[in-house]
Amino acid sequence: MSNPLISFLTGLGSRRVVETVLPRRTLEEVVLPPQTRRTLEQALAQVRNHALIFGRWGLGERHTAGRGLVFSFAGPPGTGKTVCAEAIAHALGLKLLIVNYAEAESMWVGQTPKNIVATFQAAAEQNAVLFFDEADAIATRRSAGAPTPHSREMNLTVNVLLRELESFNGIVIFATNLAANFDPAFERRIRTHVLFEMPGVEERARIWELQIHPKKTPLAPDVDFRRLAERYELSGGDIKNAVIKAASGAAAEPGADLGKRIHQRHFESAAEAVRSARGIMQQSLFTEEEGAASDPVSAWLKMQARWQTTILVAIGLSGAALVAALVAVALVILH
Ligand SMILES: Nc1ncnc2c1ncn2[C@@H]1O[C@H](COP(=O)(O)OP(=O)(O)OP(=O)(O)O)[C@@H](O)[C@H]1O
Ligand SMILES: [Mg+2]
Repeated sequence: MSNPLISFLTGLGSRRVVETVLPRRTLEEVVLPPQTRRTLEQALAQVRNHALIFGRWGLGERHTAGRGLVFSFAGPPGTGKTVCAEAIAHALGLKLLIVNYAEAESMWVGQTPKNIVATFQAAAEQNAVLFFDEADAIATRRSAGAPTPHSREMNLTVNVLLRELESFNGIVIFATNLAANFDPAFERRIRTHVLFEMPGVEERARIWELQIHPKKTPLAPDVDFRRLAERYELSGGDIKNAVIKAASGAAAEPGADLGKRIHQRHFESAAEAVRSARGIMQQSLFTEEEGAASDPVSAWLKMQARWQTTILVAIGLSGAALVAALVAVALVILH
């Protein structure tokens, strides 16, 4: 990478927060619901037309701001956002500069705005598609409350990002797990939102098949991907993990390698394991969120919501008691 700051950052230990990849995966390797695929293809068409208008037709030389194209990919983990960013770069014959935003922010404390500028510069130098993965932190609003050092840096970061987006003449993709909540100023810059959903049964069956090698992976005759798809509601990422787990299970069995096969039972126990691991993750995320008193505004809103529920329940109960008392009085009078 030619930008010295970025090369320094990517060289830190094994954790790469910014890295350039030569995309290899294509849109054919991704199974998507029809609506998601249509939106993605429209996004790709926009990019191609954009190159024509601002490149060959010369409008890029007349208009120096707002020439970039910004997309957001939103959806649950493991639904193919990163693969699709790679596939888009592949379709355009460009490199992909991936920034793991969540990790970057925690690593760049105090330096985030400066490093954001360097990242855009690196993407421009390499003519790469810039992909901000795990960008949920950007999707939260600029804070308007009393400034803390963190909120000050966050506000500054968002402002710097907006400024860089304005002058960047390339493609930027933000991936988030949240569908909404982008800062309104950000929202205006996003050309297309692509929503990634959890795959349905049909899609899951095709993803199971796509995750194995059509010729080399030794499958036992009892393997039935359709049944796995019906039985386990997993994301594409989960299915990928389950296939690797199943293969390790089959490979670990005794006997000569040549006789080893992945059986349905290997896939089933792997799918179970992946599903329960996800359950534990969700549980711990939930408890973390419950226990977190980090943001005073949301803590206050939570407390307020609890009070409202308590008051509503109390009103409901006293209403019911009143009705019961009236019925009792009516019965006494009738007798
Ligand atoms: N729709 C899909 N079709 C085919 N394979 C998929 C699909 N979704 C996910 N996968 C598989 O799961 C792996 C992980 O997916 P990916 O990293 O793109 O998910 P993601 O949406 O970016 O998740 P995260 O939000 O956790 O970053 C991919 O490398 C791919 O093998
Ligand atoms: Mg991803």
